[in-house]
Formats: sequence, C-alpha cells, structure tokens
Amino acid sequence: MGNGGSFWLPPASSTVAGEVDSIFYFVYYASVVLFILVIGLTAFFVFRYRRRGGTRQFTSGFSHSNVMEVTWTVIPTILVFVIFFWGFNGFLKMHVAPKDALQIKVTGQKWFWSFDYPSGASSVNEIVAPVNKPVELLMSSKDVIHSFYVPDFRVKMDVLPNRYTKAWFEATETGEYNLFCTEYCGTKHSEMIGKVKILSELDYQKWLEAADFDTTIALHEMGERLYKSKACVTCHSIDGTPMNGPSFKGIWGKTEHFADGSSLTIDENYIRESILNPNAKVVAGFQPIMPTYQGILKDRHIDAIIAYLKTLK
Ligand code: CUA
Repeated sequence: MGNGGSFWLPPASSTVAGEVDSIFYFVYYASVVLFILVIGLTAFFVFRYRRRGGTRQFTSGFSHSNVMEVTWTVIPTILVFVIFFWGFNGFLKMHVAPKDALQIKVTGQKWFWSFDYPSGASSVNEIVAPVNKPVELLMSSKDVIHSFYVPDFRVKMDVLPNRYTKAWFEATETGEYNLFCTEYCGTKHSEMIGKVKILSELDYQKWLEAADFDTTIALHEMGERLYKSKACVTCHSIDGTPMNGPSFKGIWGKTEHFADGSSLTIDENYIRESILNPNAKVVAGFQPIMPTYQGILKDRHIDAIIAYLKTLK
C-alpha cells in the first residue's frame, strides 16, 4: 500500500499527496532552520556576553542596524509569500475536481457512512473506487457535522447537514485505505471508521455489477452479508448480547415489548418498519438512536435481511 510513509506522514497514495507533503516539509525544514538560528544565536550571545569579573562593559552608542533589520524583514516576507502562493495553488487543485471525475454521493450519519454510485449501487462504510481515475465526492450529512478523512490520500472535508460539500481524489495504487470521521459527532464518533477500497478499473466494474443485486446466492446469505456490510452488526449482536440495540438471536416470532408499553409479535412488517422508520416502535430499555435505512436498502435487501433473521434461532 504505497510507500511506507514517514515519521510525520502516512503513505502518499493519491495524486495530490506529493504536493501536500512537499509544502509540509518546506514549512517544517524552514522552521527547523529558523529555530536553530534563533536559539543558537541566543545561547551564543548569552554565553559570549555574560557578566564577568567586577568590571561592567557597555557597548557605546549603538541604536540600530539597517542591514540586520532589512535582512530579518525581507527573508521571512519572502518565505511567507512562497508558502502562501504554493499552498493556495495546492488548495485550488484539491478543491476543483477534474471534469471527467466519477461522482460518488457520500452520506454521513450517526455513526456510519453510506455511498451511492452513479449505477445505482450503494455501499456502507466501504467506499469502492477505481484506481488512476479522479473520483469526486458529493457529501452531506443526515444529522450532525461529520468529516470525511482519508489520511493516505490527504483528503479531509467536513460533511454538513442541509448543505453539500465536495472533495475529490485520484488514487495511485490499488489497496485498502483507512477512512475516519474526524469531527466529534457523538457517543460513537470514534467508531465511525470505514475503508476506501481501490480496485482496478475491471474489478471496479465487476464490483458494481455484483453490488446491486446478487441473484446467485440464497436470500438469507445475502441478508447475512448485508447485516455485516450495512453496519447492522455495529448495534445488533446475533449471540444474545444486548448492544446499542436488541440482539437478533431468537428474534423471529418473539413477542417484543416497546417503550410506549405496547407489545407485538415480531413479523415481516415489523422488521420492515423498523428498518425504514426505526423510531416507530422502540424496544423497551433501548434508546431511539437507530438511523433510518430509507434510500439505503432496497426492497430486495429488506427481503434478504428478513430471511436472514429467520435463521437466527
Ligand atoms: Cu461522524 Cu465523528
């Protein structure tokens, strides 16, 4: 996965990463040189002109030095201008996606990411994209402010409710890269972690075809995959352990009691309602924190999840 990175920076695996790193190191080494110069001279003067013996020596009639003042004004000014124009140039490149970019819709919500592709396919917590092709991200949030951050690509952009933001990247190598939410967004902010999977163009096309509807596997197997890939697993265990939500073990046909005092035997329509409108009937003892999967799961996906839940005896 890219080069190994350095002490300061992770591997550089996108087209803009090299330039981001260059300007970082320029600022870094300029700071190191200035630090050594200033601290070194200070230490030298402290030692050289320390008070010695009983006699005090004073430098006579010294007011200022034009040469020194011009030097310490002009050099930092040039440095600051270089950093500004270099940085601004990089900023523009990073914020305007190439015209031929593939556009993927990114949605952040408490506490996972979902992605929609031009073909109609979708994925959760794993964004899949082709290598060596610019990918533009059109991003928005369903609730609070999140932030989309892929360190290896040097891509970071806030994801806001009620407004779209954009970012783009072009990966230079296939592989898996970490995706983080880097804006504190509530209890499970630190678990709002995903992957960026970069595939060859051919593998990407294959993935797109398979991603939508896979008719080659049994419905309950597809449901099991969705349970993992759509992040149900984050809050619902299958071994009986209560997590943020009730466990799915033995859920089918069970009589469930709800926060409002009512109760119901769990059936297909209850599951469907709970996926699309999770707060309609909240199981007693749990918080109404599940997000809606409206627009993320299609009818066939819901069929598959229902088939899977029936197998969890
Ligand atoms: Cu989403 Cu932090």
